[in-house]
Amino acid sequence: MTTPRPVSPQDRARLDAMKKSWEQRRQIKERLDKIKHKIAVYSGKGGVGKTTVAVNMAVMLAQQHHRVGILDADIDCPNVVRALKIDQRARLENGTFYPAERWGVQVMSTAFFQEKEDEAIIFRGPMIHNTLLQFLQMTDWGDLDYLVTDMSPGTSDSALTIMQTLPVDGFVVVTSPQELAMVDALRSINMIKKLNMRILGVVENFSGDFFGTGGGEALAKKAEVPYLGKLEMRKDYRDDSKPTVLASKSVHKDYEALVAKVKDLLAVPAAT
Ligand SMILES: Nc1ncnc2c1ncn2[C@@H]1O[C@H](COP(=O)(O)OP(=O)(O)OP(=O)(O)O)[C@@H](O)[C@H]1O
Ligand SMILES: [Mg+2]
Repeated sequence: MTTPRPVSPQDRARLDAMKKSWEQRRQIKERLDKIKHKIAVYSGKGGVGKTTVAVNMAVMLAQQHHRVGILDADIDCPNVVRALKIDQRARLENGTFYPAERWGVQVMSTAFFQEKEDEAIIFRGPMIHNTLLQFLQMTDWGDLDYLVTDMSPGTSDSALTIMQTLPVDGFVVVTSPQELAMVDALRSINMIKKLNMRILGVVENFSGDFFGTGGGEALAKKAEVPYLGKLEMRKDYRDDSKPTVLASKSVHKDYEALVAKVKDLLAVPAAT
């Protein structure tokens, strides 16, 4: 019988890194398995209203008595905390993050760990990736009905990590009616399709006289995905004392319709 060769320190380090990564994946799965529906709000283009849509959808779902969480996956420019006007912070205790809560929504964001809100978070891709993995691994969301993820714009680091790590049931793609936004939204749709994930549909934000209307529906048709409707451009969003669904009847109505469509789609299993 031959005696096994001793494992070199380099190979030992490789094995340890592999074990750590498996353990991290296992813990992420365990945490996320407790959540019934995972939705992500996404668009390649910045400023089209991803955070607004994610926050108002989450608050609307909470108003309908669901248990809801929102993950701010915009690691370097986190806006969810401000959009929800949260004054408490998430806690880190014995290796577990406990989300903060506001308007009935559990919230996790890098903004909680900044000394000052306007401090620049300058992370290279691997740091963004690691931060997201740690959030997913260490956050105790409890048993949620919905986790809504607010994604950052673009089709690289953060988006890729979310798509490869978080088993999202479906993406809500936000576009504004202008052509440039639609081009970027189409890029996002193609990325989601490439990674074999489900697109719940396209919602047109900033719809109305100023930027026009109909671009979202045209995009949905072109990409052969459902059209989720339009969210009018409204002055009501200027009142940032609370999420607009709670401050404006018209916006409440817009989101009631959007959430109803998303729920209907989630009730139908994804075509394989
Ligand atoms: N339908 C709307 N009508 C009027 N203002 C809106 C509407 N939707 C969003 N806004 C405003 O537009 C601004 C940008 O929205 P938001 O931050 O949600 O975009 P974003 O896509 O998340 O941006 P980023 O790519 O930087 O993350 C915010 O001030 C928001 O209040
Ligand atoms: Mg945003």
